Amino acid sequence: MLAPQGLPEATLTREDMGFISKLVYEHAGIVIREHKEAMTRGRLSRRVKALGMGSVAEYCSFLKTPGAQDEIPELINAVTTNHTAFFRERHHFDHLRRDVLPRLVQERGGRRGRIRIWSSACSSGEEPYSIAAVSRDVIGSRSDLDFRILATDIDTDILNRAEAGIYPAELFERLPADVRPLLRLDGQAARGEARISDDLRRLIAFKRLNLIENWPMRGPFDAIFCRNVFIYFDTRTKATILDRFVDLLAPGGFLYLGHSESLPQPHPQLRLIGRTIYERTP
Ligand SMILES: C[S@@+](CC[C@H](N)C(=O)[O-])C[C@H]1O[C@@H](n2cnc3c(N)ncnc32)[C@H](O)[C@@H]1O
Repeated sequence: MLAPQGLPEATLTREDMGFISKLVYEHAGIVIREHKEAMTRGRLSRRVKALGMGSVAEYCSFLKTPGAQDEIPELINAVTTNHTAFFRERHHFDHLRRDVLPRLVQERGGRRGRIRIWSSACSSGEEPYSIAAVSRDVIGSRSDLDFRILATDIDTDILNRAEAGIYPAELFERLPADVRPLLRLDGQAARGEARISDDLRRLIAFKRLNLIENWPMRGPFDAIFCRNVFIYFDTRTKATILDRFVDLLAPGGFLYLGHSESLPQPHPQLRLIGRTIYERTP
């Protein structure tokens, strides 16, 4: 990384690294460990450039001024890791499609019964669109169900991309042939890009939500996806969020975690029923 003068960007001082880590932890619950200094510096450098500043050190000094409150969301946007993919950890979508949705449709169809699914760290949208794809496949065009997906993330930049639903076409070419048609791609996007169809996009409400702040919704949800975000939180944060998920899950509803994640401690109302799939007991 080169600083504007052509000099290598200096390493973040221990003090600045500590300051940034504390700020990010307080505002997003994300734990940045000391060995992530180079990655953090790289991510902040993009923001430094956008603000026309000379160095990450200058950016840290700016963040310490009283007028810097509005910069906090931008700082969080800069440091989040947004890696995701369509049908990532495919077994979750297979479970939803084969074991969960057919039963819910049978129970609730016919009287505009309500089905709600929450993608709670949705990043650029691949996760909620994969949920929408399998759901539309099971529900078909029946109008006797009130089906909605809530997709939330703390990062406002990534949410804008998610809502647009436009992706490089090559992403879809790499998908297994049995799931690709379920995404119902729209032919209208620019060359080299494809857009998720209106039909699927209509099923999803995208909103900014910070998992460590208040949540405005009351639930209940039939399924909550919280995948590959617990890895950034400490045990206390995970335990608090988990209790709140359980409160919002319908009895018999499912919680999906990421492949390397587990419950911070056994929960009396969550039963492991598959690979990182938990069922809320009555
Ligand atoms: C690695 S992505 C996971 C995306 C998707 N769930 C998946 O598994 O493919 C992690 C996401 O968590 C979001 N995130 C981090 N801290 C958060 C918080 N406190 N509240 C809500 N979202 C958060 C990030 O912005 C990022 O988009």
